[in-house]
Amino acid sequence: MPSFVIKSSQKQYEIVIENGLLNHLESHLDPAVFYIVIADDQIPDLYLNQITNTIPKHLIIRFPAGETNKSMAIFNQIINQLVFHNVPKSACVLAVGGGVTGDLAGFVASVYMRGLPYMHIPTTLLAQIDSSIGGKVAINLAQAKNVIGSFYPPDKVLIDPQTLKTLPPRQLQNGMAEMIKYGMIADDAFFHRLQNEDVFANIESFITASIVIKKHFVEIDEFDKGIRQHLNFGHTFGHALESYYKYQKYLHGEAIAIGMVAAVTDTKIKTDLINCLHKYQLPTNDPALIADLKPFLQHDKKGNAKQMNFITVSKIGHAEIIPSPF
Ligand SMILES: NC(=O)c1ccc[n+]([C@@H]2O[C@H](COP(=O)([O-])OP(=O)(O)OC[C@H]3O[C@@H](n4cnc5c(N)ncnc54)[C@H](O)[C@@H]3O)[C@@H](O)[C@H]2O)c1
Repeated sequence: MPSFVIKSSQKQYEIVIENGLLNHLESHLDPAVFYIVIADDQIPDLYLNQITNTIPKHLIIRFPAGETNKSMAIFNQIINQLVFHNVPKSACVLAVGGGVTGDLAGFVASVYMRGLPYMHIPTTLLAQIDSSIGGKVAINLAQAKNVIGSFYPPDKVLIDPQTLKTLPPRQLQNGMAEMIKYGMIADDAFFHRLQNEDVFANIESFITASIVIKKHFVEIDEFDKGIRQHLNFGHTFGHALESYYKYQKYLHGEAIAIGMVAAVTDTKIKTDLINCLHKYQLPTNDPALIADLKPFLQHDKKGNAKQMNFITVSKIGHAEIIPSPF
């Protein structure tokens, strides 16, 4: 199976993809290091047992699953546990789970004692193809997603696609939204594969292809000043919907699916996109009105003081940045 090196200004880090990787982590985890294993309470114990078997010195911190817990309150609790246990600067934070865990644990790692080493074992499709790559870590406030965060690349990302076997179907579909986004913004041939092939029969190949696309964007524009903003296609509306519904109605990818449809004007492209999203049981519209979403749309962080940016797709495989209509 392939592995990738992602280049960032702070470090280069490896992404290893291997079926069954959790069964032999010895070459990736150091038994001499003290690991802070951070996982939500829905991650199967099996994975935590496999991982901690390799690392004799560890502290496991679990938190309640869900987007509402990517929060100041849980961040505060975790930091207090690190202080309580006198966790030293030499310890390594090991996030085990989806994007919520990765973003939260990565943010903890970025600020505790001004930065601890940080690794991620992503166990959702969304995290394996997207959130574990590119170094963005963050927590939410009630009124805005990801509004407190930083760029803090991991030291290593270890992907075992077999962990997806225990992932609930809705979570698999959720990850498909970001994969469809990659096809829409960067690769029309990939989009056609998503329309026509059985993705789950060959998931490793689709994970790998997705990582190639994300790597391209984050290496060219690590700090989101230009082309990396293409990855935000669907996210202006998507983030607003998530916040408007207090992170209760939609999973992240579901909100992005609706946001992508809203961000396309061409009728033929919209139809192709909707059909592809429906193939993966993703939602494509919501009754909330622009007026309802407006306060949340204005929290979108892309752009600068003079102009907010909006990402649209006028040809499949090609995104563009336009001034925000909001
Ligand atoms: N940092 C980034 O660049 C970036 C990019 C995209 C999304 N995100 C963020 O990612 C988050 C969404 O991540 P997510 O979709 O992975 O959600 P998530 O982390 O909430 O995980 C979804 C659920 O699946 C469970 N789960 C995880 N792995 C499992 C497994 N193998 N078997 C059974 N259950 C499992 C979790 O316990 C959780 O209940 C959002 O907060 C979003 O903002 C970040």
